[in-house]
Amino acid sequence: MADCELVSAARAARAFARAEFSGCKVGAALETVDGTIVTGCNIENATYGLTICAERVAMFKALSDGHRVFRRIAIVASTKGPAPPCGACRQILWEFGGDLEVVLANLRRETGRYTLGELLPVPFDARLLR
Ligand code: THU
Repeated sequence: MADCELVSAARAARAFARAEFSGCKVGAALETVDGTIVTGCNIENATYGLTICAERVAMFKALSDGHRVFRRIAIVASTKGPAPPCGACRQILWEFGGDLEVVLANLRRETGRYTLGELLPVPFDARLLR
């Protein structure tokens, strides 16, 4: 699947964002090893702290549907420049997705491209608990 398809899926998911408090709508599209795309959007809460980011929604939906191996994630926000995943999302994506390709985009174009290892270079993970 082309990167642009994954980015399009993230843009479409962004339309469902519940971002009444910040106004910042985010969409994510996670690609599994078999090519399935699982999407997510951010969902905010009046208590603010219960807000969940688009990336974690996508990953939790995918895990809950039984997916276990992932390749790439596209993340779309309306920012002019790159809107990279927050620290909490980097940790969750690393723990369940490993060294994913991360494609960032806004409403018109790609804004950045990283590996998750570049975004989270010294992770705390399950290897440290063995
Ligand atoms: N947000 C995401 O969905 N993903 C991120 O990685 C960063 C932030 C959302 C959370 C909140 O609803 C809004 O963007 C502003 O922080």
